[in-house]
Amino acid sequence: MYRIEKENKGMGKSRILITCAKGITPFLREELLLLRFPVLSETIAGIATEGTIEDTLRLNLMLRTGHRVLFLLKEFAARDAEALYDAVLQIAWEEHIAADGYLCVTSSVDNPSIRDSRYANVKCKDAIVDRIKEKCGQRPDSGPDQDRVVVNLYWKDNRCSLYFDTSGEPLSRRGYRKIPLTAPMQETLAAAVILASGWNGNRNFINPMCGSGTLAIEAALIALNRPPGLLRNNYGFMHLKGFNESLWNDLRAQAKKEAKKTLDCRIIATDIRREAVEAAKKNAATAGVEHLIKFDVCDYSETTVPDGGGIVILNPEYGERMGKIKEIEIVYKGIGDYFKQKCRGYTGYLFTGNLELAKKVGLRAKRRIQFFNGSIECRLLEYELYEGSRKNT
Ligand SMILES: C[S@@+](CC[C@H](N)C(=O)[O-])C[C@H]1O[C@@H](n2cnc3c(N)ncnc32)[C@H](O)[C@@H]1O
Repeated sequence: MYRIEKENKGMGKSRILITCAKGITPFLREELLLLRFPVLSETIAGIATEGTIEDTLRLNLMLRTGHRVLFLLKEFAARDAEALYDAVLQIAWEEHIAADGYLCVTSSVDNPSIRDSRYANVKCKDAIVDRIKEKCGQRPDSGPDQDRVVVNLYWKDNRCSLYFDTSGEPLSRRGYRKIPLTAPMQETLAAAVILASGWNGNRNFINPMCGSGTLAIEAALIALNRPPGLLRNNYGFMHLKGFNESLWNDLRAQAKKEAKKTLDCRIIATDIRREAVEAAKKNAATAGVEHLIKFDVCDYSETTVPDGGGIVILNPEYGERMGKIKEIEIVYKGIGDYFKQKCRGYTGYLFTGNLELAKKVGLRAKRRIQFFNGSIECRLLEYELYEGSRKNT
C-alpha cells in the first residue's frame, strides 16, 4: 500500500535539503542566510530550506560548506518494497529524465522490511526505468556513477521522500585537488574551518604544514569572493530535462563579475616536504589561484609571518599510528613556541583530532570549535597571540 501525499509536478517551489559533514551546520546556516534562503529546520548534518529547481543552481554554485543540494520531488508513505515500487511508478519520470539518459539511485533507508538498502535502490530504479520504458519505449541506463542524474531516496519507517540530487558528485569535490597526498582535509571542511575563524581576506593568512594546499586554496577563493562552484562544469541538475542553461551561464557570469582579481592580504603556504608543496602548487594552479599564494618548502617554524596581523593556521598530523606519537608531540610543543615567538599580533589556530597532543602546545585556547573529520572528532583551537609583552599562559 502506498499513499501519495505531495507531488511537485511542475518542479515549482519545494523543500531543498542541503547535506553537509557532521557539525558544519552553523557555517552552512550562515551561508544560506547570506544567500537569502530561509532555514526551515536543521539536523547535525543538514539544513532544510526551500526554493525552485532554479534556486538549486545558485546553491550548487555558491555554497562552500554544503555537500549535496537535494530537491524534493515527492513524499509518500510506503510500507515495503512493493509499495515503494508502486509509488515511484506513479511519478512522471519521463518529464525529467531522458529515455537515453543515465541515472543512479542513492538512499538512506531505515525501514523494518528492508535489510539491505541496495534492495530499495534497485526497486526504486526499476520503477523509474519501467515508467520511462512504458512512456517512451526506451529505458535509461543505470548504475553507480553519480555524474549524471542522481535520485535520492530517504525512507524512514513508512515515510519516503524522493529527491533529485542536483549536485551529482558531492560539492566537496571541487575538482582542483588533482594530487591529494596523505590525510588531506576535505575542501568543504577547510572552508568551514576558515569561516569559523572569521577570516574574510582582509588580513594575512599563514598556513604552515599546508599539505596539498586545501586551506590556502579555499582561503584564496574566499578572499576573492569567488564561488567554489565556478571550478566545476558538471552537476546533477545539468542532466535533468528542462535544465535552464542560460540561467546557469548568467549565474556564472554574474559570479565572475563580482569576484575580485587581486587580494588585499598575503596568503603564505609552506610544508617541510617538497612533494607536498609541489602538489599544493599544482592544485592551486588548477583552482586558478596559484599566483596569489606564496609557497615555500620549510619547517613550519621557519614560515615567514609578515607584519600586519592575520591568522596562522596549522593542521598537523594527529598521530593515529602508534610509535609516531613521541615525534609528533615535539612538533606540537614547538607550535606553542612558534606562536609565542613569531606570530605576535596574529590569531593562531590549530586544527587537530588529538586533544591530548593539543595540550602540548602549552597555550590557553580562547575558543574551541568542534568539527568532525570523517568519524574523528576534531577541534579548531584559537589562540590570541598578543603583540608586545603580554604573557600567554
Ligand atoms: C595532516 S597534513 C596537512 C593536510 C592539509 N591540511 C591538506 O589539506 O592537505 C600535515 C602536513 O604537515 C607537514 N609537516 C609535518 N611536520 C612538519 C614540519 N615540522 N614542518 C612543516 N610541515 C610539516 C606534513 O608534510 C603534512 O603535509
